[in-house]
Amino acid sequence: MRYSSSTLLLLSLASILSLCSSNAKNMLPSEVETLFKIMDSISSDEKWRISYPNPCNPGSTWLGVECKLGQDNHLHVSRLDFGTHPNPTCNNTATFPYQIFDLPHLESVFFFRCFTHTKTTLSAPANRGAAFFDSSLQQLSLRSNPALVGPIPPQISLLKSLKILTLSQNHLSGHIPPGIFSLNSLLHLDLSYNMLTGPVPIQLGNLKNLQDLDLSYNSLTGPIPGTIGHLGMLQKLDLSSNSFVGTIPYSIEKLTLLTFMALSNNKLRGNVPKGILKLQSLQYFIMDDNPMYIPLPAEFGKLVKLQELRLANSCYSGMIPPSFSLLVNLSTLSLQNNRLTGKIPEGFSSLSRIYHLNLSGNLLGGVVPFNASFMKRLGRNLDLRGNPGLCMSTSEAYNNVKIGSGVSVCGPGSLIKKSQAAAHGLSKLLFLCAALVFM
Ligand SMILES: *[C@@H]1O[C@H](CO)[C@@H](O)[C@H](O)[C@H]1NC(C)=O
Ligand SMILES: *[C@@H]1O[C@H](CO)[C@@H](O)[C@H](O)[C@H]1NC(C)=O
Ligand SMILES: *[C@@H]1O[C@H](CO)[C@@H](O)[C@H](O)[C@H]1NC(C)=O
Ligand SMILES: *[C@@H]1O[C@H](CO)[C@@H](O)[C@H](O)[C@H]1NC(C)=O
Repeated sequence: MRYSSSTLLLLSLASILSLCSSNAKNMLPSEVETLFKIMDSISSDEKWRISYPNPCNPGSTWLGVECKLGQDNHLHVSRLDFGTHPNPTCNNTATFPYQIFDLPHLESVFFFRCFTHTKTTLSAPANRGAAFFDSSLQQLSLRSNPALVGPIPPQISLLKSLKILTLSQNHLSGHIPPGIFSLNSLLHLDLSYNMLTGPVPIQLGNLKNLQDLDLSYNSLTGPIPGTIGHLGMLQKLDLSSNSFVGTIPYSIEKLTLLTFMALSNNKLRGNVPKGILKLQSLQYFIMDDNPMYIPLPAEFGKLVKLQELRLANSCYSGMIPPSFSLLVNLSTLSLQNNRLTGKIPEGFSSLSRIYHLNLSGNLLGGVVPFNASFMKRLGRNLDLRGNPGLCMSTSEAYNNVKIGSGVSVCGPGSLIKKSQAAAHGLSKLLFLCAALVFM
């Protein structure tokens, strides 16, 4: 019986397939070689090639490497994790292995304290061309790498699948490339603790899915872009310790899911938009050290979920709004070193969760409205020092000699001394607030 040519073809196909299946679940040799090259350039384990010839094979996978079976029935590297125990550590000579972008199935990369001695950049070598960064990466986390220097390359915009980008605590410099804001799958963007300069591009508003934005501890300048109001999913915003100028943008009122907002240590000024009271999810509002020069906004007292409100060293003036007594969940209130006048609101004594209250260095006056049990509860976390016009009724003071909230007993004898002290305190504060303007 003669076989037709088509049957022969089928038979030979079948034998090829069965040959392949014995090879199945191996890595492609080219991918193994790419992984070896990455290991050569970062790992502190010199014998890697010898100890793990089949790095993805079940039972012999190296810690720090994870693999997945692809639809092509080959194993592919899906995760690289260096620097955190028990994963491998990096060699002192480690440089950024741009070959990671040649691993087509790589989803997550973590390099923690990996590039520490040998200066290295994120930029592609000139001869690599456009293929650089073109990958399926979803999570890129390069954290605490003091030798990682230079700019964030604009080609980062090619990492279209990125959901989490963490480039925190490196020595990255230059401007934030606008292209980074075209990565519209991003949920989490952390560029904190670098040396980034220049303004935040208005394209920021394109990241419609962003939940966390941390640009703190850089040298960013210019205003906070109004487009920030387009980040409707944002829950955490940290812009502290930069050199942002101008005011809080009006659009902030649209960030109604925000639970954490930190704007401390910038050059922001009043006014605060009235719409800020729409941030009804806000639990932490941290905004110390800005030259605000406005009366303390009563709207802050409408943010009823607040647990921490920090507004120290910011040249706020006027009375403490009575509405602040409505912040029932407040545990920390920092208003020290402003120019606040008038009395401490009576209602403060009923803030049942408060455990840290700092009103020191203001121009507050009158009788402290706290009874002995309140003062005992807060102990050293109550600071009223440097308010020469404040005094305490005899009975409370008597009970609290040891607590030392820094306030003397009310009495006619101390009046002259107090007004002198008040004048001294005022000139000190005016000097501080004047100094802030020129910083
Ligand atoms: C770092 O890599 C170099 C060159 O590959 C090697 O000679 C050296 O032993 C490695 N250092 C450590 C601490 O593993
Ligand atoms: C205060 O906190 C409690 C417990 O976390 C919570 O149940 C309550 O809703 C909060 N109150 C407000 C006004 O958010
Ligand atoms: C102290 O003040 C609080 C709040 O006003 C009150 O609930 C408490 O009963 C007072 N305690 C004493 C010992 O007077
Ligand atoms: C209150 O603030 C002043 C000035 O910043 C600081 O020195 C003091 O330690 C603070 N007090 C408390 C109890 O935190």
